[in-house]
Amino acid sequence: MNAYRSFIRPLLFCLPPEAAHRWTMAALRVFSILPFGPAVVKFFSGKVPHSEPLVVSGLAFPNPVGLAAGLDKDAEAVAALGALGFGFVEIGTLTPKPQPGNPQPRLFRLPKDRGLINRMGFNNHGVVAAAQRLKNRPAGLVVGGNIGKNKDTPNELAAQDYVLSLRALHPVVDFFTVNISSPNTPGLRALQSLEPLRELMREVLEERDRHQPRRPVWVKLAPDLTNEELVDTAQLIVSAGADGIIATNTTLSRSGLGTDPLKVEQMGAGGLSGAPLRQRSTDVIRVLRGAVGPDFPLIAVGGVLSGQDAREKKEAGATLVQVYTGLIYEGPQLVHDCIRAWND
Ligand SMILES: Cc1cc2nc3c(=O)[nH]c(=O)nc-3n(C[C@H](O)[C@H](O)[C@H](O)COP(=O)(O)O)c2cc1C
Repeated sequence: MNAYRSFIRPLLFCLPPEAAHRWTMAALRVFSILPFGPAVVKFFSGKVPHSEPLVVSGLAFPNPVGLAAGLDKDAEAVAALGALGFGFVEIGTLTPKPQPGNPQPRLFRLPKDRGLINRMGFNNHGVVAAAQRLKNRPAGLVVGGNIGKNKDTPNELAAQDYVLSLRALHPVVDFFTVNISSPNTPGLRALQSLEPLRELMREVLEERDRHQPRRPVWVKLAPDLTNEELVDTAQLIVSAGADGIIATNTTLSRSGLGTDPLKVEQMGAGGLSGAPLRQRSTDVIRVLRGAVGPDFPLIAVGGVLSGQDAREKKEAGATLVQVYTGLIYEGPQLVHDCIRAWND
């Protein structure tokens, strides 16, 4: 029996989505801070299925399944999340200055579709607070810092925001994700166009190379780029000297949903995640793998709600996989299921 699906999810789904998120994070925070908190989480999660460690971008991952960005934006619960069995945890998106994000409500469930729509808008306490918190991060877990730009930073100055965040987080994270694909910061996705991206990569990778030890930089892309755009963008990312690509972020598309279209319209703008995103995200990995050759790291994310879904990403060419929305619908058991299916 899946205790999450039988007891915890029904309770959480009685609450508005963001309240459920806050309560879950509060619990995970407590378990992260208490001296035996992570051990308790580990005990109740059960034994993590065996996995050969993987070396990706020079980092040793205990297993291929990670937590995607956006759940623990401020790095408040890294220890408890690691104890759920994740091989790596991505915090953020963090911006140089703290910012409140968009007005609420800004997070919506689509239970019929096993999806979410969000327009959070990079609500976070700022990169300095997160860096301070991560000084006490647990050993044996790979932690990534997902970085973005503040809402009021014009695109011409965006590189400076990424550079500042990279500098602040460098001592406390293992890799970086340059997020240029969230749909909820006006203009952000324009940074995926070739000219702005070339300039952004130049400045960010120069900053990467100023620090020791060298920390890999991955770039996170949107599923709404056309396949041709994906190929051009990926080739630029490789030739600029970045270390990997995460694909994908949420989609602006609303096609193929079973939820009442009126309800979907009432939810308003935002990025769609979960099961409706799965197929496009997998296709993106396949297109990218064709564009970057067999060895370049590709981290797949989008619509993984079962072990089989994780396996599908691997077969499409993924090096590692991440989950977010699947965790809300299926609970922490999903992490173990994905590890098992990946290694089968
Ligand atoms: C509520 C919510 C907040 C998110 N916030 C971020 C974020 O801050 N930065 C980011 O790169 N991705 C963010 N994402 C996108 C996820 O990391 C992931 O790319 C996307 O949801 C697809 O994966 P999934 O279908 O497993 O959720 C967010 C997703 C959700 C649902």
